[in-house]
Amino acid sequence: MSTPPWKRSAAGANTFDEGSGAVLPTIYERTTGAAIAAGAMNLGQGFPDAEGPQWLRQAAADAVADEATGPNQQYPPGIGLPVFREAVAEHQRRHYGLQLDPASQVLFTTGATEGIAAIILAFAEADSEVLTFEPWYDSYGAIVALAGAQLTSLPLSAPDFRPDVDALIGQISEKTSMILLNTPHNPTGTVFTPAEMQKVIDAARAHGVVVMCDEVYEHLLFDGAEHTPILTLPGADEVAVAVSSVGKSFSLTGWKVGWVTGSPELVNRVRGVKQFLTFSSAPAYQWATAQGLVDDRGFFAEHRAQLTSTRDLLIEGLQSVGLTTSNPQAGYFVLADISPISDLPADEFCRRLNNEVGVAAIPVSSLTKQNEASAELDRLVRFAFCKHRSTVETALERLQADLPLK
Ligand SMILES: Cc1ncc(COP(=O)(O)O)c(C=O)c1O
Repeated sequence: MSTPPWKRSAAGANTFDEGSGAVLPTIYERTTGAAIAAGAMNLGQGFPDAEGPQWLRQAAADAVADEATGPNQQYPPGIGLPVFREAVAEHQRRHYGLQLDPASQVLFTTGATEGIAAIILAFAEADSEVLTFEPWYDSYGAIVALAGAQLTSLPLSAPDFRPDVDALIGQISEKTSMILLNTPHNPTGTVFTPAEMQKVIDAARAHGVVVMCDEVYEHLLFDGAEHTPILTLPGADEVAVAVSSVGKSFSLTGWKVGWVTGSPELVNRVRGVKQFLTFSSAPAYQWATAQGLVDDRGFFAEHRAQLTSTRDLLIEGLQSVGLTTSNPQAGYFVLADISPISDLPADEFCRRLNNEVGVAAIPVSSLTKQNEASAELDRLVRFAFCKHRSTVETALERLQADLPLK
């Protein structure tokens, strides 16, 4: 009998235990559960402990309460409210000079996660091969497995975690259906250069491969780093679709408002899958998000400055206890190599860090293909800095008091 879809997706996300047959919650939920149980500071799951802008939350409240100005609360169009699609198009024009037709080139999705699922299910044929870099956002592995395709991943290597694009392209074969990119990248913070992305596009065009580019960290950039949306590059519209969402940009991860953009033809194919996943959702959040995308009232710059400051605090603190750290250009996370202070495997280190020191973090090996993390990735631990300064300070005090863990 062939492997049932639930087992394939769970194995793809490293949440299936062959021995007991149990499907576990994702690494993010497990980490947060263990942090709550141990009273640990949660630098594990990547959600902010501050709420997004009050004026935007008020817009959502108005959108629910105010029948005269907000949307109605019934099923919105599957493709998304017109005001939302127009706002995404306006955002892409203002920030990146991209011209998109809101009627045919923007698709609302329930978070980027639904967009990723719909894109992969639309383009990854069963038994085909999908290429990506690892570590990755865990839904990639799960959905590729659900599609019945095979994932091949190449490591982003320390110390700078730059992608070896030539090696990725070298893996393209007749079986390859898709390439999954993520820039700015979770969890390394790597921002892909236009030249790196252009090489991928050119190869994808030459081989008839579809490229998904996950851009959810597009506004979380530090030290002058610049994000290049894939659709701004020559030839990209023939082969690429981009996915983004409001969760990271506005610190509103629970809203689950996302969008897919690309050529009318490719977006239409994604829509063909998306309409049978959720069909549609969240009219009030779509409406409110539209207000924020058209005018962020300075939030993006303010947020970047706050994140830069907590990133620096975390890096300095982790280095002060002997860890070697990454210096991320973007995103929510610092990667720390535990080799200088511990011989434990990263997953065991994280378990003890949570229970004995009171700090939750995530072993990077859980964001790789099951049981195939390279020795180097297996030494890395991911710490989130999208937290209150006081949360990071308390976590660092605990590390300073209670490390090393041998
Ligand atoms: C790279 C990446 N893509 C997608 C998502 C999910 O986005 P959303 O919450 O909008 O579904 C995340 C969330 O952590 C992420 O890190």
